[in-house]
Parts: sequence; structure tokens; C-alpha cells
Amino acid sequence: MKQEWNQVLETDKVKELDAFISKMKDQRGALITVLHEAQNIFGYLPRELQRYIGERLNIPSAKVNGVVTFYSHFSQVQKGKYVIKICDGTACHVRKSIPILEELQRQLKITSGSNTTEDLLFTVETVSCLGACGLAPVITVNDKVYPAMTPEKTTELIQSLRKESGHEV
Ligand code: FES
Repeated sequence: MKQEWNQVLETDKVKELDAFISKMKDQRGALITVLHEAQNIFGYLPRELQRYIGERLNIPSAKVNGVVTFYSHFSQVQKGKYVIKICDGTACHVRKSIPILEELQRQLKITSGSNTTEDLLFTVETVSCLGACGLAPVITVNDKVYPAMTPEKTTELIQSLRKESGHEV
């Protein structure tokens, strides 16, 4: 399922990124803006893509990688189509966020070694607060907030996302 970088280079995504880089090239702080755009386009920032961006902006690839690893927003690994964030901050924890996480792990067969499903449909991340403590326990799916979650509601949500994406339920 994962694409080789050589295949990726053939795609329109690179053309889209090139067009953006051409617009940004001479502006101050272009690197971070370009990395944001590249992550929007590709979904993640593999080392090959970082090297490519470095070449286009005349910035050493080690410096590009330093920026990518500094900001937690940037990801060097491919994530699923649906990025599920489960909050385990205090408010969510006391309202039983852990059984929701366990249900997600069970439903998606995610082990501690990887937080993305084999079919690249789901990525599960834990966060310390989603800023919606009054709605605890909270999860987000691609930044859409789901309040007052339970393991049962989580199962239904996973099923509906699978359906929406055309995967078997
Ligand atoms: S602790 Fe979960 S949203 Fe704040």
C-alpha cells in the first residue's frame, strides 16, 4: 500500500508542490510554510521529500530535518486517512478515556509498535488536552470533535468511517 518515493515523483502532487515553492522561494521563512504545504499535499514528510525541498530552497537537508523533527505538527511517517486523536488529559481521563482507547486498539488491531492500520485508513494518537474539557471524554477525527464518547459510540464511529471510505464494515 505504501508508495515508493520514485512513484510519488511522477505524480501531480510534486507539480503542485513545485508551483507552491516557486511562489514562496524568495520569501523569508519560506521553509516552514513550504513544509506545511508539503505535509498538506503528501500527508507526511519522508526524508526524500525533505531532501527535495532542501534542494529547491537551497537549504541543507540536515537543517530541513531539524525543523521537521522540532515541530510535533510535522510527521515523517505516513498517517491514515482518518487521524483519530484521543484525549487523555485529566478531565478526559477521569471520565474514562482509557476504555475508549482500548476499544480503538481492539477495533483497529493496532499494537503498541504502530499506531496506523495496515490499510492506511486510521491513525490513532493520544494527546494531553484537546481544549474541550467540558465535553470530556473527547476524541477528534481529522479535527472534527466528538464529545462525551464511550466505547460503544467509538465502535459505531469506526464503522461509519469505514462505510464512508468504502471499506467493509
Ligand atoms: S482534558 Fe480532554 S479535552 Fe481537555
